[in-house]
Amino acid sequence: MADSYRGLDGLHMAVLGVGRVGATTAYVSLIKGVVDTLTLVDADLERAQGEAMDLSHGLPFLQQAQIQACLPGECSGADLIVLAAGAARQPGDTRLDLARRNLELVRDLVPQVHERNPGAIWIVVSNPVDLLTRAVRAYAGCPADHVIGTGTMLDTARLRSLLAQHFGVDAHNVHAMIVGEHGDTEVPVWSLARIANLDLFELGRALGKTWDTSTRKEIGDQVRSAGAEVIRRKGATYYAIGLATCELARAVLRDERSILTVSTVLQGEQGLSGVALSLPCLLGRSGRLSTIPLSLDEGEHEALARSAEVLEKTYREAGGPG
Ligand SMILES: NC(=O)c1ccc[n+]([C@@H]2O[C@H](COP(=O)([O-])OP(=O)(O)OC[C@H]3O[C@@H](n4cnc5c(N)ncnc54)[C@H](O)[C@@H]3O)[C@@H](O)[C@H]2O)c1
Repeated sequence: MADSYRGLDGLHMAVLGVGRVGATTAYVSLIKGVVDTLTLVDADLERAQGEAMDLSHGLPFLQQAQIQACLPGECSGADLIVLAAGAARQPGDTRLDLARRNLELVRDLVPQVHERNPGAIWIVVSNPVDLLTRAVRAYAGCPADHVIGTGTMLDTARLRSLLAQHFGVDAHNVHAMIVGEHGDTEVPVWSLARIANLDLFELGRALGKTWDTSTRKEIGDQVRSAGAEVIRRKGATYYAIGLATCELARAVLRDERSILTVSTVLQGEQGLSGVALSLPCLLGRSGRLSTIPLSLDEGEHEALARSAEVLEKTYREAGGPG
């Protein structure tokens, strides 16, 4: 049975909450050969066992890995814990409703899991991701560098893919990012966006593509509403976030020193402290190795400060710890 493997060597990732996002992250991580041991953890043990069985049946086609399933109180020995448990926003829910519900879940879940996995790095995916990143850090009582929210990784990926479509280039060649909140106050950093070392106005001229403030606004709005648009059509988003989470897991487990826009509790970066939001961070085996300073223009700087204010206010209203 899938839950009989214990105490194995190698890179060990536990996924807490194996619904759509958690199971997709697990699947992608196996396909990409990122983990040696994968523990699927869910309050619904049968679901975790079912996912573990289904994934193990694919192992003849993949790099070898050990897959096990358990309840939250039984998970131990993980190097990395991916938190993907908890509900998504339901019709009629406000952001604050979701924040309160998932903050409660984190309060109950994190201390018991952290106790059996001391020293593990946490990746937070559940929403509202910035508030939960801050709360996980508080409840685990670990260094801020050890708790990383996927933050604006997904928004940044959406921005890069929309810019790639607009200019007709490979998304890998697009260097652009979204910082701040994963949500309404997110900040596209247009002043630093580059493709082939050109800013987007220069590139537009070189390729004969329109690039003006209205196109820029249109693409920014599309990124901001992308999640809601997918949810309206298919009920949830999980492929792109699963890929993003796997990328982040690989950066940590394999000590890749990748720079990704992730949410961490700030300690003075860009003049902000205490709040968790996304900035480009250098990531490796001990989590956040450093935060990369950004030379934002005045409008971007103000928008980032506004994002921090909104996050601080919601965290307080939702009764976040610390
Ligand atoms: N950060 C992002 O960019 C991003 C993108 C998409 C989804 N999300 C978030 O990811 C989370 C999961 O979304 P989903 O679509 O996979 O939801 P889902 O309902 O499909 O899965 C949630 C899973 O969590 C489990 N669970 C609930 N309470 C638990 C507990 N106390 N302990 C252990 N397991 C528990 C459930 O049994 C279920 O299997 C949501 O909060 C969603 O908003 C974040």
